[in-house]
Amino acid sequence: MTVLPTISFAKIAAPKKGTAVILAAKDGKLPPLASEIDPSGVLAKALEVAKFKGKAKAVVDVVAPAGAAVDRILVVGVGEGDSIKETDWASFGGIVRGKTASDQHVSVLMECDGVDVTPEAAAAFAQGFLLRAYDFNKYKTKKADDDDGKDKNVAQKTALMVDNVAASKKAWETAEAVARGMMLARDLVNEPANILGPVEFAARAEALSALGVEVDILTEKEMKKLGMGALLGVAQGSVRPPRLAVMKWNGGKPKDKPVAFIGKGVVFDTGGISIKPAGGMEDMKGDMGGAACVAGLMQALAARKAKVNAVGVVGLVENMPDGNAQRPGDIVTSMSGQTIEVINTDAEGRLVLCDALWYTQDRFKPKFMIDLATLTGAIIISLGHEHAGLFSNDDGLAADLTAAGKASGDTLWRMPVGAAYDKLIESPIADMKNVGPRWGGSITAAQFLQRYIENDTPWAHLDIAGMVWADKPGATWDKGATGFGVRLIDRYVRDNLEG
Ligand code: BES
Ligand code: MN
Ligand code: ZN
Repeated sequence: MTVLPTISFAKIAAPKKGTAVILAAKDGKLPPLASEIDPSGVLAKALEVAKFKGKAKAVVDVVAPAGAAVDRILVVGVGEGDSIKETDWASFGGIVRGKTASDQHVSVLMECDGVDVTPEAAAAFAQGFLLRAYDFNKYKTKKADDDDGKDKNVAQKTALMVDNVAASKKAWETAEAVARGMMLARDLVNEPANILGPVEFAARAEALSALGVEVDILTEKEMKKLGMGALLGVAQGSVRPPRLAVMKWNGGKPKDKPVAFIGKGVVFDTGGISIKPAGGMEDMKGDMGGAACVAGLMQALAARKAKVNAVGVVGLVENMPDGNAQRPGDIVTSMSGQTIEVINTDAEGRLVLCDALWYTQDRFKPKFMIDLATLTGAIIISLGHEHAGLFSNDDGLAADLTAAGKASGDTLWRMPVGAAYDKLIESPIADMKNVGPRWGGSITAAQFLQRYIENDTPWAHLDIAGMVWADKPGATWDKGATGFGVRLIDRYVRDNLEG
């Protein structure tokens, strides 16, 4: 498996070995220590030759600098000093890790002429660094090399040299918990469906009890008793039985109502009898991205001992065609009592979620509910891979989530819900059908879910279909699962529910 770097914090001093990383703002000077690291002054020449101006993300790489104790010096541009956001610091960290993956010792001088490098900035840098090091290579039987053919499976030691060591370490406790939660979400999404079925996912949720999360796993029999006909209808074509995993983190005041996070956990979505085309179907191993996010979030909240009462509920099923699979035209009765005409067995996520939402509301009476789901291809048509769709019955919740999205880098774009769309899922013979017309497909899906939100429980639905998987590397991830949503919801919780 991935050998993740060991990250530590130390006082600012000139590194004596390995790789030294120096930050420079736009048109800014190098920090005073630069001359100690590079006594013969080759750096100035290198920056001049490279026409380095401190532009954000620009990198100058000097190997074996004459007269220096270190083996390599990287100068990294951070751009305009007064407009650097936490998400930028995370990107810088990711870029530096990308360049130094095969280096044993990396020391980063977290000071910069004209820039206030706060403990939060240092923690964000470290978070980006760690996240970029994540690599899902457990099924590679040969060791992986980096682009230059160098072994990148080194146990790297990374030191961030900061102004305030204690405060930076404190900020890192939180940021690291979030990064590790994201990596759990990535692991779950990357894992193929033959390895990770509903039962196996439930076992991964159960493992969170080591961190103090209370975990309850409902079996098929228990769900039958509760009347979860919609969820069970999806599961009935699979030889692998469904599960509902309930994770509780009680870090808040004992009497405080919990907040609830609900995830779509379709471990594989073939479409069922309304089967999907073959091309790209392998991506549907990631159709549990919402559930993965909820599991990763619960891990992060527990690891950083968040002062909040939170429940995470994930509906775990496999959507398969089979002699016993549900058919288009079948009518199922959900736990709420409402009946659904299943027009298209590929619109299965809403069938899983409606029972998970109802169960959560009925059992926990939460303050609000946020569900996350790879629900529709239509949201990718609308928003591409830049924003997840946000649907909500509560303007305050929607605004706070949008702000948390901007601050964390997991961005959201609000989409409408309303009665006019709701009409589109009326069925002539049941309370509703599970699909509307082709247009507005993400909205009618949200509309379907809203029918399971009682009274005025504030609710938000995040359609993350375009966000859980990346076809090309970004600053803080390689190709593959992104862990979308964990840092978003963690940020929302921190900014709105704690302290
Ligand atoms: N899991 C899919 C949505 C999806 C598509 C996720 C692409 C990630 C990437 C979902 O279950 C689905 O199949 N939705 C259908 C709904 C349709 C039948 C109304 C879709 O989007 O085509
Ligand atoms: Mn589907
Ligand atoms: Zn699906």
